[in-house]
Amino acid sequence: MAAPVDPTSTQAWATLTRLHGELQPDLRGWFATDPGRAERFSHTAGDLFVDLSKNLVTDEVLAALVQLADEVGLADRREAMFRGEHVNPTEDRAVLHTALRDPADVELDVDGQHVVADVHATLDKVYAFATRVRSGEWTGVTGKRIETVINIGIGGSDLGPVMVYEALIPYKQDGLSCRFVSNIDPTDVAEKTAGLDPETTLFIVASKTFTTLETLTNAKLARSWLLDGLRRSGAIDDQDASAKEAVAKHFVAVSTALDKVADFGIDPDNAFGFWDWVGGRYSVDSAIGTSVAVAIGPENFQAFLAGFHAIDEHFRSTPTAQNVPVLMGLINVWYSNFFGAETHAVLPYAQYLHRFPAYLQQLTMESNGKGVRWDGSPVTTNTGEVFWGEPGTNGQHAFYQLIHQGTRLIPADFIAVANPAHPLREGDSDVHELFLANFFAQTAALAFGKTADEVRAEGTAEAIVPARVFSGNRPTTSIMAPELSPSVVGQLIALYEHITFTEGTVWGIDSFDQWGVELGKVLAKELTPAVGGDTEALQKQDASTRALISYYRDQRR
Ligand code: F6P
Repeated sequence: MAAPVDPTSTQAWATLTRLHGELQPDLRGWFATDPGRAERFSHTAGDLFVDLSKNLVTDEVLAALVQLADEVGLADRREAMFRGEHVNPTEDRAVLHTALRDPADVELDVDGQHVVADVHATLDKVYAFATRVRSGEWTGVTGKRIETVINIGIGGSDLGPVMVYEALIPYKQDGLSCRFVSNIDPTDVAEKTAGLDPETTLFIVASKTFTTLETLTNAKLARSWLLDGLRRSGAIDDQDASAKEAVAKHFVAVSTALDKVADFGIDPDNAFGFWDWVGGRYSVDSAIGTSVAVAIGPENFQAFLAGFHAIDEHFRSTPTAQNVPVLMGLINVWYSNFFGAETHAVLPYAQYLHRFPAYLQQLTMESNGKGVRWDGSPVTTNTGEVFWGEPGTNGQHAFYQLIHQGTRLIPADFIAVANPAHPLREGDSDVHELFLANFFAQTAALAFGKTADEVRAEGTAEAIVPARVFSGNRPTTSIMAPELSPSVVGQLIALYEHITFTEGTVWGIDSFDQWGVELGKVLAKELTPAVGGDTEALQKQDASTRALISYYRDQRR
């Protein structure tokens, strides 16, 4: 792969540095003197309407950002990704999550594999399974239909499925629900199985590698819970054959390592594969989304994938100046590298998207939290913002104070839909309209603020005028869609995947590896004997770790 271009050495960077030095942010003035600003800086991608006009950008800034994309070779790298070149050099892998949502008639052969044909063969298998569970044809070992599906996974094998499931609750089949176990804290398994009937519970063990300690431990706990429960109720006897049959009816798996799935005791016929060219955090649209497919059904899952594909097409073929994910990624670079913004808020005004910020944390921070570039050289500028957020309006009553009047610049994405799943009224009020009024009001307040004179004009005592002034010029992007349909959820995910890619490309980062999570995993394994009371192992630890483990050993009952 070609060496990354140092973004700070480009002409565009020099222009951006100059423009930043000269910029006097004035969203009030810019809107007042430029009636075309809102329209000019708003774009559509698929069903998404994206208003970039409340950002601290001018036409000149946007032109320089577009030039930056050009100078770092974004278009070529994007094409290389779509074509299946190994744009993940530290793992020597292609990066083909976009192929997971290609229509069946697309032909894509990469490294000797008929990629899209394989994707659709697996999807067909997932859909057939989902249909059997939904119709009641697939039953538990005692012949009862499945009522609860528990997905066991962590990271990308959890955050995507749980986020999408929660987002699409209105689309799920009545009488069938999903729960998600991820944490190795035994509380998680205990709480998520509480109150369930083993006879009507099905587990999906989701793990790309099938080596993840948390997931395998939780899967074993779940297997014991299942077998103990079935034995207690007399549903099965103590024979190995009964246990085997029960596991076959109550456990399926999703993994790239189907041999390891079989070693665990799950029937390979009940396993759904995917491939090493799908990163964990990019995998909810693969078989990793099986729990979602069961809950919402194949048709809705197809619409979900079509949503991703619509944004892929937009990203791949729209000129940079109108390309929404590219522009959003470039504007994030503008704030990170020129304004020193450290964090980025994502504020969905859609309660069903309450796990979206957590999902984006893995997508963006595991992808772009890197200090070296794809050729091993150090990065040349700050990388990887801290993504965070909560749904509005809850966040308004918690942390918005800091966004409005704090000393830090926090760019924020506001997300809302026009049509709610529950169009409720309270008296004369349409409650969704009250909700949306908050969405519109917050972005306006952040952009335009409130001057001291305006505060005074309200009769405020002079001494507290400063406390009531809002500086404004706090940047936001507004994203709106007609409704939170499966397609729109797919579109939102793809939008942020490509924003992440754009930023990673500017910074010269391999956004598809995650070596930074390895050290902690290795140390946890090494430490386990010391935690369990092995004094020799304890003595090998540093003084702080030794004291902490000793405290734990003293306190445990
Ligand atoms: O710890 C990081 C990570 O590798 C993530 O990238 C991944 O999504 C998660 O662990 C779970 O991995 P797996 O799906 O292989 O169990």
